[in-house]
Order: sequence, then structure tokens, then C-alpha cells
Amino acid sequence: MRIAIASDHAGYLLKEKIKEYILSLGGYEIEDFGTMSQEPVDYPDYALKVAEAVARGESHRGILICGTGIGMCITANKVPGIRCALCHDVRMARYSREHNDANILALGARLIEAEEAKEIVRVWLTTDFQGGRHERRLKKIAEIEDVYAKVPLRS
Ligand code: RB5
Repeated sequence: MRIAIASDHAGYLLKEKIKEYILSLGGYEIEDFGTMSQEPVDYPDYALKVAEAVARGESHRGILICGTGIGMCITANKVPGIRCALCHDVRMARYSREHNDANILALGARLIEAEEAKEIVRVWLTTDFQGGRHERRLKKIAEIEDVYAKVPLRS
């Protein structure tokens, strides 16, 4: 499974730990879209890179980290086809996969400890979408996207 990952300055240190953790699990390939230091940057720039990689199918899933995870989540969800979930515990991570088929996970580095974040990531990566009644609801989300879609994805 190919995973696109990015953070802003507030999420940089956690991003590095999460990358190392994911690689230690085995079976994952990571594409890191930055940022590469704690120098202040703007989270929308980084959220967009990961969201577009996932929406284009270049990565199977994405992980975005900022101070709270909120800005990353808001931005990623602007991209058609993205279902980004902000998860601050393992139960949210599990539900976001089982019910929402979340394709991007947003984390808040200022709100959770690295060990909690690793467990959230592990559960999120290994939990399958349940389908069934949830499929119908995701279809409704896609229909809303279609109504408001004005421009195609950039190539
Ligand atoms: C940066 O200070 C902070 O605003 C950002 O990391 C994030 O929390 C935004 O949602």
C-alpha cells in the first residue's frame, strides 16, 4: 500500500516518527510531500499535495499532520473524491474506515502523544470499509460533490 504523507511545521516532528513507524510495520511504501523542517509553512499547500495524490490514485491513502489536524482536514476535503477524517483516538480511526471509507487521516500533533498517534495510524491502515448501508451514504456524498464540481482535478 502506497501512502502519501505531509505535515506543516507544527506536525513535522510527528510526521517523521509516523513515517518511521509505518515503515517498521512492513508492506507500506511512503511518499513524503514535506514539509522537511519546523520552519513555518502554510498547511493548505501540503494538504493539497497529498489530497491530489490520493484523488488521482497515485497513492492508496494519505496522512496529514498539523497542530490540530483541523486545517489539513478542511483543506483535503475540498478535493473531489477525498474523505479526510480527523481522528484523535483509535475508535474514531476505526469508524472512519468502517463507516466512511476515509482515504486520508488527519492528526493533530499538538493534541496527541506520538504513541497514541502510532496506534491510531496502525488501526486506520489495517481496518477495512464495511460497505453495505455505508456505501449508499458515500454515494450521496459523491453526488453532492458532483453538484458543486466546477473544475476537474488539475493534471
Ligand atoms: C499552525 O500554527 C497551526 O495553525 C496549524 O498547524 C494547524 O493547527 C491548523 O489547523
